[in-house]
Amino acid sequence: MEEMRKAIWVILAMAVLASSVMVGVRGDDTKTLVKKVKGEKVCLKGWECNTWSKYCCNETITDFFQTYQFENLFSKRNSPVAHAVGFWDYQSFITAAALYEPLGFGTTGGKLMQMKEVSAFLGHVGAKTSCGYGVATGGPLAWGLCYNKEMSPSQSYCDDYYKLTFPCSPGVEYYGRGALPIYWNYNYGPIGEALKVDLLNHPEYIEQNATLAFQAAIQKWMSPVKKSQPSAHDAFVGNWKPTKNDTLAKRVPGFGTTMNILYGDQVCGQGDNDEMNTIISHYQNYLDLMGVGREEAGPHETLSCAEQVAFNPTKSSSSSSS
Ligand SMILES: *[C@@H]1O[C@H](CO)[C@@H](O)[C@H](O)[C@H]1NC(C)=O
Ligand SMILES: *[C@@H]1O[C@H](CO)[C@@H](O)[C@H](O)[C@H]1NC(C)=O
Ligand SMILES: *[C@@H]1O[C@H](CO)[C@@H](O)[C@H](O)[C@H]1NC(C)=O
Repeated sequence: MEEMRKAIWVILAMAVLASSVMVGVRGDDTKTLVKKVKGEKVCLKGWECNTWSKYCCNETITDFFQTYQFENLFSKRNSPVAHAVGFWDYQSFITAAALYEPLGFGTTGGKLMQMKEVSAFLGHVGAKTSCGYGVATGGPLAWGLCYNKEMSPSQSYCDDYYKLTFPCSPGVEYYGRGALPIYWNYNYGPIGEALKVDLLNHPEYIEQNATLAFQAAIQKWMSPVKKSQPSAHDAFVGNWKPTKNDTLAKRVPGFGTTMNILYGDQVCGQGDNDEMNTIISHYQNYLDLMGVGREEAGPHETLSCAEQVAFNPTKSSSSSSS
């Protein structure tokens, strides 16, 4: 009897010990540090959200977006006919995202908004790097991250107008590279400055380093084209309040306006068009694959930019009706 009591006690003690160790290990992984700054709660959360920020108090991207989801979204990227086999992976996206999570990327609003933002950002990426046209196996939406650079550039994308601010490096070409492809010296220059990498002299870094390629893309997503305008991030998560002019130009918070910011009148204000619909389809498909569901994308008016006037028109002809 005594023996048995002892044995049970030992087993219980071992179980308690084991479970406390497990909690300890798990706790270390996701430990959140909290403090108050001027009455506002700010947090730190391990390597993924490592600058004091209110956004770090929320779930982080790895809490709701894992390797298998990345594989589902970009299922054909390593197929033999793809053009950047072995280049893109989950870890490089997460490593790049971690730089921006303290700023609100994928950490703003509740979990639903967070999942939607990651789907929206990756929807743009998928559409811009897809090689899935028409009859491709798996359907045209399964081929995101097929490219990491423009395959047959027709020019070197050097604009001499910027020779004082962003001079082209001799022999260097500024063709499209990356997850939201960057073109031209005047785009490589500022993004390089923001990331503290000399992209003006070494644009090829973007096609050699997937983490850097994702960082450049998220940097673009998080930055307004002009100070008075919203970033794609702000327009998407609802940080941005449209002005009267925006309302007249049919610019409303949501996915449609992110296309306006990223592509302007190349895609928006052109009525219904294939390029726009391809980007929207990627976003909707990714919402499904993430388990959010495309019905969460909201009404067509906010998804589309068919009737929006571009924030920064390229043509000065005022042919659009508004
Ligand atoms: C954090 O998530 C909650 C909902 O879970 C949300 O209400 C809040 O706005 C989020 N915090 C920030 C800074 O976005
Ligand atoms: C790739 O880029 C990241 C982010 O800029 C950097 O930390 C890393 O060292 C780079 N990797 C290589 C192999 O250069
Ligand atoms: C609103 O649009 C008008 C006409 O295009 C323009 O003159 C004005 O500067 C705009 N206002 C703002 C705040 O952008």
